[in-house]
Amino acid sequence: MAHIRKAVFPVAGLGTRFLPATKSIPKEMLTLVDRPLIQYAVDEARQAGIEEFIFVTAAGKGPLEDYFDTAAALEHHLEMKGKKEALAALEDTRMREGTLSFIRQDQPRGLGHAVKLARRAVGDEPFAVLLPDDVIRAPRGVLAQMVDAHAQIGGHMVATMDVPQKQTSSYGILDIESKKGRIAQARGLVEKPRPDIAPSTLAVVGRYILQPSIFDKLAIQGPGAGGELQLTDAINADVADAGVVGYRFAGERFDCGSVQGFVQATTAFALDRPELQQGYQKFLQERTEIVALRA
Ligand code: UTP
Repeated sequence: MAHIRKAVFPVAGLGTRFLPATKSIPKEMLTLVDRPLIQYAVDEARQAGIEEFIFVTAAGKGPLEDYFDTAAALEHHLEMKGKKEALAALEDTRMREGTLSFIRQDQPRGLGHAVKLARRAVGDEPFAVLLPDDVIRAPRGVLAQMVDAHAQIGGHMVATMDVPQKQTSSYGILDIESKKGRIAQARGLVEKPRPDIAPSTLAVVGRYILQPSIFDKLAIQGPGAGGELQLTDAINADVADAGVVGYRFAGERFDCGSVQGFVQATTAFALDRPELQQGYQKFLQERTEIVALRA
C-alpha cells in the first residue's frame, strides 16, 4: 500500500457558527489554551508521517498563512533577550521549506469543492484530509491510527465515532455492511439522516484518507445538499470502484466549529496541562458550586 505523504486542510469555510469572532479571525486561528486549532491539526498530520501540507484557503485567511511563516524579527528579538522558552514555543510553527502550499477557493462552494481544488497539488496518490475544527484528544493521533489501518485495507477511509441515535441528523452516517474491530465496511454514507431512518449510529468526523479516484468523481458531480459540492456524495459515487470503510478511532472528538464544543475542548485541554491543572480544577469546582447555588 502507498505511503500517505500529503494532507489537505480545507480551511476556506466562513465559520458562521462562530461569529462575531470569525468576522476578522479565521476559525482555524481560534486559540485552544495557547495554540490555534490549525496547530493541533498540523501536529496530528506530522505524527502520521505527512510530508506535504496543502491548505485550501480563502479571502481573509492571511493570519493563518502568516502563522507558518518564519518570524525573523521576533526570533531575533527573543534570541537577543535570551528568552529560550518563548523561542521554543515557536518550534512547532516551523515548516520545512517547500512543504507548505496554499490554494485559493474563491467562494465557499462546499467541502467537496475545496478538496477538488487540491487535485493538482495531490497528484495521483492516496492522501489525507483533515478538518481542523474537529479536534480529537487521543493517546495517539487519529490520522496516525488511520494510516496504520489503511496500510492493511486501502480504499477510501473515513474516521467514525458512535453518536446517540437522536443526533444522527447532525452527521454523515455509515450504512454498514459488516464490522470487525475498529473497521466497518460500508455500503455508503447517508448525509444527516433523521434518527428513525438512520442506517446506523456510526458518524463521520473530519479525518479522511482518500484515493485519487475521488477527483474524477468530484469533477463530474453536481451540487448536493445546501447547493454545495459535498465530499460525501463523491465518496458514495466511488464506493463501487474503490470501497469505503469507517475507522472507529480511539479518542475524544470536540466540534470546535461550535461554541459549545470549543468551550468544552478548552476545559479538557487545559486540564491536560500540568502547569494549569491544579489551579484550573480548583477554579472550576468553585465556579460549579456558585452556579449550583444560583440555580
Ligand atoms: P463547515 O461545515 O464547518 O463550514 O466546514 P464552515 O463554513 O467552516 O463553518 P460554519 O458552519 O459556517 O460555522 C467543514 C470544513 O470544510 C471547510 C471549512 O473550512 C471546514 O474546515 N470548507 C467548507 C471549505 O474549505 N470550503 C467550503 O466551501 C466549505
